[in-house]
Amino acid sequence: MASSSRLKPGEKGKIRVEVNIRGKFGNIMKTVQVHTNDPQRPQTILSMKMKIKDLIHMKKYKAAEIFSGACKICHVDRGRGRKGFDLFINDCMMCHNTAKSASPLAALRAKNKEDVERAIREGVQKTSMPGWDARHSGPLFEEEIRSLIDYIRPVSKVGQAN
Ligand code: HEC
Ligand code: HEC
Repeated sequence: MASSSRLKPGEKGKIRVEVNIRGKFGNIMKTVQVHTNDPQRPQTILSMKMKIKDLIHMKKYKAAEIFSGACKICHVDRGRGRKGFDLFINDCMMCHNTAKSASPLAALRAKNKEDVERAIREGVQKTSMPGWDARHSGPLFEEEIRSLIDYIRPVSKVGQAN
């Protein structure tokens, strides 16, 4: 909604935008089209980026907290019984995608295999990346971890089988 339907050249006005965020979560983008009688720019598209935080994600957590309590439902249970690509989509992609701070898949692929394996098993200190290996109190077992590494296909050292 614009504060005025008529603006003189150089005059300022406000545009009020309402976004229904029901069911939305994380980073989203909306655009607003502004039509004017300015012959040089009859149409302008404004884009707005926003990050919608729900009450759960307002707080700071220790990485491994996603494995327990109410967090598990979304961060662990959806990946149960899955492997490789399916497991990555359900357990990893929410943080590892281009809109987020954690490296997207392509960046993980460019990493060294040992580093990728260690990060998945033990987590990354001082980040929200927990250790997923059951031996480090994570929810994933050997076969599942192997399937993730096979799916990511990180760079192996020369002379070493993938
Ligand atoms: C309803 C499902 C759901 C529940 C319950 C849930 N999460 Fe999440 N969580 C998500 C999704 C989806 C994302 C990715 C959000 C995004 O795109 O920003 C996420 C992202 C995160 C991130 C990464 C945030 C960032 O900005 O990098 C952390 C940390 C996290 N969750 C912790 C938790 C913790 C701790 C709990 C429990 C107290 C929890 N989550 C419960 C769905 C959930
Ligand atoms: C709650 C968010 C979150 C979830 C879920 C998550 N990660 Fe991470 N991960 C991170 C962050 C943050 C880092 C550190 C920043 C970076 O290196 O991308 C990280 C780092 C990593 C690294 C090391 C990258 C490097 O730079 O060496 C790997 C590999 C990795 N994650 C794989 C996974 C896999 C596989 C899963 C699913 C089983 C997963 N992550 C789930 C947030 C998350």
